[in-house]
Amino acid sequence: MNLKSIYTASENRYAAGDAMYARCGRSGVLLPRISLGLWQNFGYDTTYEKSRAITHYAFDNGITHFDLANNYGPPYGAAEEVFGRLMRDDFAPYRDELFISTKAGYDMWPGPYGNWGSRKYLFASLDQSLRRMNLDYVDLFYIHRYDPVTPLEETLQALVDIVRMGKALYVGISRWPLEALKVAYDYLTARDVPPLIYQGRLNLIDREPQEQGIVDFCRQKGIGFISFSPLAQGLLTDRYLNGIPEGSRMSRSGSLTADRLTPEMISYLQRLKDVADSRGETMSETALAWVLAQQGVTSVLAGASSVEQLRDNIKCIYSAPFAGGEL
Ligand SMILES: NC(=O)c1ccc[n+]([C@@H]2O[C@H](COP(=O)([O-])OP(=O)(O)OC[C@H]3O[C@@H](n4cnc5c(N)ncnc54)[C@H](OP(=O)(O)O)[C@@H]3O)[C@@H](O)[C@H]2O)c1
Repeated sequence: MNLKSIYTASENRYAAGDAMYARCGRSGVLLPRISLGLWQNFGYDTTYEKSRAITHYAFDNGITHFDLANNYGPPYGAAEEVFGRLMRDDFAPYRDELFISTKAGYDMWPGPYGNWGSRKYLFASLDQSLRRMNLDYVDLFYIHRYDPVTPLEETLQALVDIVRMGKALYVGISRWPLEALKVAYDYLTARDVPPLIYQGRLNLIDREPQEQGIVDFCRQKGIGFISFSPLAQGLLTDRYLNGIPEGSRMSRSGSLTADRLTPEMISYLQRLKDVADSRGETMSETALAWVLAQQGVTSVLAGASSVEQLRDNIKCIYSAPFAGGEL
């Protein structure tokens, strides 16, 4: 082994102290206010060294929470495999300092048992995820989406049993409508496995979890809330102020399409830039800080395609409060 490649975490990784961590609902868990999502930039379309550098920078700066899913890649499973290699190469000595989540719920393998919310799928998928990630357990296992057909009780009992078997310490709910979330809360809590956290898309231009009462419900019940795509996949940064740059997510992946850049959106982005300038911040910093300022939000689950982006984004934990109506 090349000795230079051995990773030792920074001794200053917890220097931000209280500014960095928030209690997740009414649980015993503290999560970093900015967490790292591995949906993109951790598949086999990215070099290992680049993915590696991003995770090193994150952990060296106190980001202890990494979020995955069975189907992150490309191809499906690749992000967990890359993360498993990182665990083996770098993070094994730090396992107890990390809070690692994965999910199942979207299409993962062919046939009737590789999708949605059956007990069969969830058990098999989590076992696969653990193998790919070189882990004995995950800290948090999510049901990734609402399945309108499988009885909710089947999905929820699978989550309870997964915790009882020690394969996950906590369970979370992602993208369920409010009424189903209420059923989940009652079912899981009655079995002493209360949902730790809800994962939903909340950002300056998509406030659905607030509008639908999900964030308020979580707050009332002591469930944490983590926002995915808090930068709207990069829209709420300076990335698209002057067109679509080569290499950006909009230029290369199907998840962020050019039709989002309407004249209204461009003028909104200009306004965001003015507000960010007046606060002495970058647009991404302001956009993330706005999400963190919303009542009931535990953490933002941000993505990054470079260390520089993460360095920029992490400053959001120190942002000033917002004056009403600023954005
Ligand atoms: N539960 C769910 O269903 C669900 C769905 C989606 C995501 N998620 C989770 O949420 C995580 C984050 O999602 P996301 O990647 O869409 O988050 P995001 O933070 O909204 O977008 C991240 C992307 O924005 C761009 N970016 C970030 N910082 C920037 C900066 N400072 N300046 C310019 N551009 C910047 C980068 O894209 P480029 O550089 O490539 O342009 C980066 O990959 C995922 O990894 C996943 O863990 C969950």
